[in-house]
Amino acid sequence: MQTEIDISSIPKRTLFSGEEIPCMGLGTFGSDKYGPEEIAEAVYEGIRIGYRIIDCASVYQNEDLIGKSILRAEAQEIIKRDDLFITSKVWNDMHEHVRESCEKSLRDLQLDRIDLYFVHWPFPNYHAPGCSGDSRNPDSRPFSVEEFVNTWRQCEELVDEGLARYIGMSNMTARKLEAVLPYCRILPAALEMECHPSFQQQELYEYAVGHGIQPIGYCPLGSPSRPERDRTAGDISDLQMPEILEIAERHHVHPAVICLKWAVQRGQIPIPFSVKKEQLKANLMAAAGDPLTRQEMEQIRLADKNCRLIKGQVFLWEGARGWEDLWDM
Ligand SMILES: NC(=O)c1ccc[n+]([C@@H]2O[C@H](COP(=O)([O-])OP(=O)(O)OC[C@H]3O[C@@H](n4cnc5c(N)ncnc54)[C@H](OP(=O)(O)O)[C@@H]3O)[C@@H](O)[C@H]2O)c1
Repeated sequence: MQTEIDISSIPKRTLFSGEEIPCMGLGTFGSDKYGPEEIAEAVYEGIRIGYRIIDCASVYQNEDLIGKSILRAEAQEIIKRDDLFITSKVWNDMHEHVRESCEKSLRDLQLDRIDLYFVHWPFPNYHAPGCSGDSRNPDSRPFSVEEFVNTWRQCEELVDEGLARYIGMSNMTARKLEAVLPYCRILPAALEMECHPSFQQQELYEYAVGHGIQPIGYCPLGSPSRPERDRTAGDISDLQMPEILEIAERHHVHPAVICLKWAVQRGQIPIPFSVKKEQLKANLMAAAGDPLTRQEMEQIRLADKNCRLIKGQVFLWEGARGWEDLWDM
């Protein structure tokens, strides 16, 4: 197997089962900026470089082409299926049809089983892909433990039936986790959460780790190319934070590399997205060597601005005060 980066140099994280997985993965959401073909090509390139975790979702509308990239990499003997760790997610309109959703993703990705299947958002509140920030669905409703547990039961059945190896949650809060974990027969192996230097979510991070749940950090670079609907005036750009710039200068790397080094050393699995070969390479290499000093880690810890970027306002229900309601604030 020929990969550009020696994958033995990439540290591992241990799931509750004892299984080890790489400390970094590859995102596949094109932020409405990159099309499915480009993203599928990036997945192929990513696998060739040495990425093993590929973070997919049905709502990204590119799993069919990503499936072809995986097959291509397998056919060229770059990778064996069992070396990959593929995730997917059930979208909000399929919370009552989890098996159907998972089977569709498996068909598209051309897999027999998914390694980790997430509940993408803890609400069944649907919005069409690519909608504007002020669009609302009149059927939207607040979080319900009962509804969520009903969806989780279906995820557990995926594990029972061998369609998923692990199941996970995404976009949760500590309060929501506390409410649903007692009802879980199969615990979530991972929690996908927004996580970057200006939004560290320390309390949620610690809650997950304390319960044996591996945090997976999305938007690890502060999602500089995110869609317009996810931008607000007060947003902070991680790649321009003075602390990140200063540390990047010291290490002679792009600020993105510093965000990833911080993520890896803190313990979450960052899943940066890119379609650019040099970025893909630089991002994965961030995990191997030239670590941040304890002082630099502390400098970044103190730079947290509690600046959530993916506020999720399109999921709001009638009568909600604002996006803060989605996050139990
Ligand atoms: N569970 C969830 O609800 C959820 C939500 C959001 C995202 N996610 C997942 O998390 C993944 C990552 O999040 P994201 O794509 O929003 O944000 P991100 O990874 O923080 O940012 C990606 C962007 O950063 C730039 N970039 C990447 N590598 C770089 C480098 N080495 N140097 C300079 N710039 C670099 C690229 O911008 P240019 O293309 O402009 O160069 C790229 O499009 C997604 O793809 C998706 O898989 C999950």
